[in-house]
Amino acid sequence: MIKKLTANARKPSGIWGRLMIKKMNATHYDMTVWSLNNINLPKDGAIADIGCGGGRCVRILNKMSEAEIFGVDYSPLCVSEALKKNKGSVKNGKVKILQASVYKLPFDDCSIDCAVSVEAVYFWDEPDKAFCEIKRALKPGGSLNIVCEMVKNDDGTGSHDEVADFLKLKYYSITELKELFERNGYKSINTLYDEINTRMLVSGIKPE
Ligand SMILES: C[S@@+](CC[C@H](N)C(=O)[O-])C[C@H]1O[C@@H](n2cnc3c(N)ncnc32)[C@H](O)[C@@H]1O
Repeated sequence: MIKKLTANARKPSGIWGRLMIKKMNATHYDMTVWSLNNINLPKDGAIADIGCGGGRCVRILNKMSEAEIFGVDYSPLCVSEALKKNKGSVKNGKVKILQASVYKLPFDDCSIDCAVSVEAVYFWDEPDKAFCEIKRALKPGGSLNIVCEMVKNDDGTGSHDEVADFLKLKYYSITELKELFERNGYKSINTLYDEINTRMLVSGIKPE
C-alpha cells in the first residue's frame, strides 16, 4: 500500500495519485511557507510554480503576491487537482494552471519574473536541460528557487537512498545543487539550510 502511494510522487495518477496529492498538499505546507518567506517574491509580473502538484503552493503564492501566478505540472491529475484548489483565482484570471513538462515550458522567452519548485527537482532526469529551459523563460534578473526536503550530505551519504532507488530519483547535497545552478549560467546563487527540519532552499538569478 505504502509503495503504491509512494510510486505516485513522480507523476500522480489514479486513486493512489489523488491520495498522494492530498498528502503532499498537507505535508509540504510548512516547507513551502518557510521557503516562500525566504524568497524575494516580485510584487507583480509573473511567478511560475514548476511541478505544482495539487496547487497548494500556487494558492499561497497568490495570497503573497499581486503577480500573475502559473502552476505547471506534466501530470493531468495534478493539473485538475490544482485547478480545483485554486478555482476562484483561476476563474478571475489571476492564476493559470498549465499541463507541461519542465523541459518544454509553455512560456515565452524572458517572460517570468520568478520560478519556484518545491520537491520536484529530484524527478528531473535531465536536470541541466530543465535548468536551461527555466532560464530561457526567466526575465534577465529573474530568479529560480529550488526547495528540497531530501538533502544529501556533502560526503555523498544520505538517509533517503532507499526511496531514491525505489522512485529512481536523484537527491542533491547543497553543493551539488549549487553546482547545477552555476553550470547552467545562474548568478548570485544563495543557499539556505534549515538544519532542524533538514530542508534547503537554493536560489539563483538569470544574469542581466
Ligand atoms: C513530489 S511532487 C511535489 C508537488 C508539489 N510541488 C508539492 O510540493 O506538493 C513532484 C511533482 O513534480 C511533477 N513533475 C515531475 N517531473 C516533472 C516534469 N518533468 N515536468 C513537470 N512536472 C514534473 C510531478 O507530477 C509532481 O506533481
